[in-house]
Amino acid sequence: MHKGMKDLEESLLRTDGIIEVHDARVPHSGRNSELYKRLVGGHKPHLLILNKSDLADPHYVNKSMEYIQIEQPNTQVVHTSLMSIDMKELTNLFGRLLQQIVESPRYTRRSSIEYNIVVCGIPNVGKSTFINKLRNLFANKASCERVGASPGVTRSMSEKVKISNRPKVFVRDTPGILEPRLKSANESFRLLLTNCIPIQQRELSDIIADYGLFLLNKYEQQRLYMKYCELDRPTDDILTVLTAIAKLKKCTQVYGNKRGYDLTGAALHFINEFNKGTFGHITLDQDILDAMEQEKLSDTNLFRASSGRIKKSI
Ligand code: G4P
Repeated sequence: MHKGMKDLEESLLRTDGIIEVHDARVPHSGRNSELYKRLVGGHKPHLLILNKSDLADPHYVNKSMEYIQIEQPNTQVVHTSLMSIDMKELTNLFGRLLQQIVESPRYTRRSSIEYNIVVCGIPNVGKSTFINKLRNLFANKASCERVGASPGVTRSMSEKVKISNRPKVFVRDTPGILEPRLKSANESFRLLLTNCIPIQQRELSDIIADYGLFLLNKYEQQRLYMKYCELDRPTDDILTVLTAIAKLKKCTQVYGNKRGYDLTGAALHFINEFNKGTFGHITLDQDILDAMEQEKLSDTNLFRASSGRIKKSI
């Protein structure tokens, strides 16, 4: 995926705007800060879509937008659920970026009459869904046409879809895949749990499910998993949860000459349900956002205290 960044860098000279898609449940974890530093840095219009907000805690969706905006003031941040976005919202969202692009200085691309946009982000956050939605949105318009070697068949990096005639705007057909930035074991687990990093070994799924259960308990979201697993009290024992799921879903496996519960299958089922929102709307990074808020509050108090002292001394 380093290649993804390299590809993007190479196409930067031909790009007028970057749309980054990220999972609203992990607004902090895995975001590739290199993108901002190396590609955006205030020079290219940058729209960050925090997607899958249907699965995230609404309170923390707003908080994350606020904090990202502080850290990256040149970025326009929006949140949405591309699964259920309607035409009006999509047109609105795209219009905002378009306006920013058209109003931004184009430096080396001043002479070009067309605008190129790339969509990028870490895996499984909704990049293809976004491109497909855009394609459908503009499909009925005469201005929309696919440009590239083999329309609809071959996928190459150069293929792009024209989505507006005035001004002429193209979106690259293939999203840029970025490498998730992993700063801690916690971040890795969060990205594994949300499928932003594919689970390579099926056997690891119970550890990932265990982490999911840990977060549900930590964020006091026990009610729905208890109901789903028919448990009468919260538990921090993943075996209890997996055995309950294996029983309910009849996940069994033959071990030697005996049939037993397939706990790995049950763990995968747990992760799947977690990602469908069965256990509730959860922002996995809410502890990070809370810590940022605390920091902001103590900074404000510090500022108040010191300005009080200054006033007194005056
Ligand atoms: P990518 O290109 O960034 O890798 O992501 P992609 O669009 O393939 O989306 C990854 C998965 O996330 C897909 O599910 C897609 O349907 C789902 N998804 C996209 N946007 C949203 C959203 O706003 N909310 C929710 N809940 N899910 C979303 P999948 O199961 O991998 O594929 P499929 O069953 O849709 O074919």
